[in-house]
Parts: sequence; structure tokens; C-alpha cells
Amino acid sequence: MTAGRGTIIGTGSYLPERILTNRDLEQVVNTSDEWIKTRTGIRSRRIAGAGEVTSQMASRAAVEALAMAGVTAAQLDMIIVGTITAEMVMPSCACLVQKEIGAENAFAFDVSAACSGFVYALEIADRYLKNAPEMKILVIGAETLSARVDWQDRNTCVLFGDGAGACVLTGSTTEEGLLASQLYSDGRLWQLLSLDARPRRYCPAVDYGVAAAQNNMPEGAAFSMAGKDVFKHAVREMGDAVVNLLDREGVSLDDIDLVVPHQANIRILKSLAERLDLSFKKVYTTIQKYGNSSAASLPVALDEANREGRLQKGDLLLFSVFGGGFTWGVMLWRW
Ligand code: ACO
Repeated sequence: MTAGRGTIIGTGSYLPERILTNRDLEQVVNTSDEWIKTRTGIRSRRIAGAGEVTSQMASRAAVEALAMAGVTAAQLDMIIVGTITAEMVMPSCACLVQKEIGAENAFAFDVSAACSGFVYALEIADRYLKNAPEMKILVIGAETLSARVDWQDRNTCVLFGDGAGACVLTGSTTEEGLLASQLYSDGRLWQLLSLDARPRRYCPAVDYGVAAAQNNMPEGAAFSMAGKDVFKHAVREMGDAVVNLLDREGVSLDDIDLVVPHQANIRILKSLAERLDLSFKKVYTTIQKYGNSSAASLPVALDEANREGRLQKGDLLLFSVFGGGFTWGVMLWRW
């Protein structure tokens, strides 16, 4: 038994009300429901409404996670938000969440690791909990990608959605919690998937769903992506990371009850399952409904799986992520 191993005691999520379907996108760019469904698995995505910003979505997810954990905001020691689309550069999204939920005893900061941001943040939380298991830590993944997408670029705009997911962690004194993990980065490949910080596109007063439909988005930087390269790297690196971690820990894929991956693309996830010789039934997906919400996608999926009763005490879970940077990682959890 490892004293002070980080364990998740509550999950929560928040998705904006506005649903943007593939049919809606047919009115925005030269695309079709059929193309998007077959190439990505996505049928619809959620888009932040006017005035809805990343820290608000993050706070709503946090409140749900705190309620499930039975922890008050004042009991939190630390808040980490994984995001690349916070509405402010300074203060951090985490500080805005702290203010919003009233976590006056916590220290707070953001982690920038694109789609891997939530898992990177979990890793930091776990390292703290190894030394101080009494801590209560809030970890969030939250994104407003609709604000950073070029809605005239059909190669990218069909892929992304908005949302937030959260977990409350504390130190475990049992076998449950984070058993093993490995994180990776390769900055040499940054140009394959990038988002320029200058100038900022974010405009909190805009309803991005409406602006997109009218081709009337604020000016500014947007995603740039070499889709096929990202696809190849994602499948290869995620696959190798899973195999290496399981080999190191002496765990077989048959022992895994559920894989909760970053929701990038259904074809990436199917290729990953094939590469690992893993039944796709063991891969939890939300990509159909929510698209790719970067750092938010895994915690949103985890919360849904949890609330649906898919996670039983004692289950072995695998988290697998890949994103811009490149960054990627894998985690093995005992639920
Ligand atoms: N609607 C219709 N046609 C489109 C669209 C669209 N939305 N987007 C591209 N096309 C066209 C292209 O212009 C191209 O046309 P052409 O042959 O006349 O030039 C044709 O479709 C094929 O384009 P490809 O890029 O070859 O299509 P591909 O099969 O590679 O699929 C996709 C594109 C879905 C982006 C794929 O490469 C992919 O899934 N890549 C992974 C990217 C990803 O998931 N990124 C998310 C961020 S990273 C992350 O989260 C890990």
C-alpha cells in the first residue's frame, strides 16, 4: 500500500446548452453530416453561449465535483486547471474559479498542455498528495475552443466543442487511486498542431454559435493542424505509452475494466483499440455528442461514466491522452 496516493472522491462536469449539429455546420462551411460522421464520429458539439467563459464552465463543473465528494470549497487546498482557452492570460483560470466558488484557502494555477492538460494536472495533484495526503485538491479541464476556431476552415471547425470537467482528489489510505502514470512531450513537433497566442480572438460578449453561423467571428488566431500527421502520431504514441506502462507495471490489457481516453476522434480511438488488440466495448466515448473539447474531454467522459454507474469500486481504469505540444500520457487508476 502506498500512503498518500491520490484518489478521486468526486467528479463533475458542465456542458453549455447550445448544441451545434453537423447539419448546422453545413450552413457554415462546405461540409456534410456524412463526411463529419464517417471521418470523426462527431454528430454534434456544445458551444458556449454569449458571455459564457471558460472559468464559469470550470466553476460549474467544480461545484458538482465538490458536492459528490462532500467537500466544501473552503476545504480545498489547491486548484489546478488544465486549459489553453482561458478568457484571461492573467489571472489564471484557476484563480477565477477560486473566486467564483469561494475557495479562499486554496492556492491556484493553470497548466498548459493542450488536450493532455487535465492528465498533467492530475499528475501534479498526485505528487502533492504523496507528501500531504490530507490535502483536498480540485483538478479541472475546461475549454472554450469555439472562441479559437476559424469557422471558415472546414478542416478544423467541425472537430471542436466547449465544456468543463472536474475531479476532487485526496490522499488514499487504501489500494484505490493512481497506481502508475507516465507523461511525455515532444516540442520538436509543435507545428503539426498549434494555436498562436497573438492576437487573441477571445471575445466574451460574442455568442460563438450565432457568430459562426453568420460567418461573423471576431478576428484573431485560430487552430492550425496537420490532420493526417496528428492522427498518425496520436495512435502511435498513445498506443506505445499504454503498452510501456502496462509492461512496466505487470498489468495485462485484459485486466483493464474501462479505458477513458481523450476524445479526439472516433477513428483515432478505434485505431488505438485495434493497435492494442482491445475490445472497443472497453473504450468510453462521448465524442459523438460533444466533439473534441481538448483538456475538458477526459474529465467530462469520466464524470458521465461515473454518473451512469459504469465505474465500480475496484475497477482498473486507463486514461490515455494526446494533444498539441506534442504532449501525451497514460494513467492507471484503481477506482
Ligand atoms: N468536410 C468536407 N470535406 C472536408 C472537411 C470537412 N469538414 N475537412 C476536410 N475535407 C476534405 C479535404 O479538403 C480533402 O479534400 P481534397 O481531397 O479535395 O483535398 C478531403 O476532405 C480529405 O481530407 P483529409 O485531410 O485527407 O481527410 P482525412 O481522412 O485525413 O480526415 C481529419 C481529416 C478528420 C482531420 C483527420 O485527419 C483526423 O482525424 N486527424 C486527427 C486530427 C484531430 O483529431 N485533431 C484534433 C486535435 S488533436 C487532438 O485532440 C489529439
